[in-house]
Amino acid sequence: MTFTATKTLADKVRADFPILHQEVNGKPLVYLDNAATSQKPLLVLNALRSYYEQYNANVHRGAHTLSAKATDAYETARDKVAKFINAASRQEIVYTRNASEAINLVAYSWGMNNLQPGDEIILSVMEHHSNIVPWQFVAQKTGAVLKFVELTPEQTFDLEQFKQLISEKTKLVSIVHVSNTLGCINPVKEIADIAHRYGAKFLVDACQSVPHMKVDVQEIGCDWLVASGHKMCAPTGIGFLYGKLELLESMPPFFGGGEMIAEVYLDHSTYAELPHKFEAGTPAIGEAIALGAAIDYLSSIGMDKIHAYEAELTAYLFQQLEKIPQIKIYGPKPDANGVRVASPLGEGRAALAAFTAGEVHPNDLSTLLDQEGVAIRSGHHCTQPLHRYLDLPGTARVSFSFYNTREEIDVFIKALKETLDFFAGIFG
Ligand code: ALA
Repeated sequence: MTFTATKTLADKVRADFPILHQEVNGKPLVYLDNAATSQKPLLVLNALRSYYEQYNANVHRGAHTLSAKATDAYETARDKVAKFINAASRQEIVYTRNASEAINLVAYSWGMNNLQPGDEIILSVMEHHSNIVPWQFVAQKTGAVLKFVELTPEQTFDLEQFKQLISEKTKLVSIVHVSNTLGCINPVKEIADIAHRYGAKFLVDACQSVPHMKVDVQEIGCDWLVASGHKMCAPTGIGFLYGKLELLESMPPFFGGGEMIAEVYLDHSTYAELPHKFEAGTPAIGEAIALGAAIDYLSSIGMDKIHAYEAELTAYLFQQLEKIPQIKIYGPKPDANGVRVASPLGEGRAALAAFTAGEVHPNDLSTLLDQEGVAIRSGHHCTQPLHRYLDLPGTARVSFSFYNTREEIDVFIKALKETLDFFAGIFG
């Protein structure tokens, strides 16, 4: 495998990310914690800044010029989100603070009002806490029952077990598209088809897929899909919920307040049209506009190019990690030719690797790597049930973005080997 494309893409984009060009602990920063949050290009930073410098005003409220300009930019960004995930209508995109808020919106608005004692919700053991805890709230309140799909021996979503679990009792299936810990890409299209055959709704947590590959909600056929802006080059505090129009129409508001109303009387209110019905209060205007800029930026590179490039990086990472005897990587292995290109059918592996290194605690690893300027995540990555399932206290995790380079992987591997040698010296 050659890595010329890797260099070319990274070389093209790195200048756009000012934060990458600094030293941490006296060493050039190697940022490998992109699944936690991505860095932001100048285009995004400038979009945020120019909103506050040039047309800061509230949206949908004022007749004055600045308000009209802010409203226009805010709503144009919604169009960009809709196009990016191929929603059928801009009304299907609801801005939220993040994916967690989007799942809570569905849990409270739809779950609390549609589920009965004995109804079943199917999740998987690899879900992020934000796709477990809201459903625990719903189950506790409604008497619905949570069921969990486990893993295949390859540590992927067990589709066969899912087929056994699902029944006429299943009212909701809520599954992560790309696991932030295992790196597996789940077969969301197939899951959608099966869920719908049983009359269940299907929610996709796309936090770790939307920033890294083409995601098409109509192709998947999901009922809802959620994502967070900050993982896709946008600021924190902005995310979105996609929902099928007729479903969102049928759901009551989650938050009450300004913006989401049509008429307010002392004893009752009527609500605004979609998507505003779900957007109470002054929203994160600059952040939404910057999310639109992030989408422009990602689109200008091309999601297929990003995915292919990150796949090359991941293949190289695996080659290097697998040479270190103490390292155990979790999740599916790339095939013999490297990492396959992802598809909504669930093939391939995402650009991250969670691993353990013998007796060395992942937190000690990441602390010592930080001394070398290398930022990786350690701990449970908000997937405690998965770590418990795998009988692990935690893992260390490397996660890529398209601005990472093969040279950065070399720096990481060298620092990792030195750290492991250091611990070998201590433990004998
Ligand atoms: N869920 C984020 C991660 O995987 C924070 O790191």
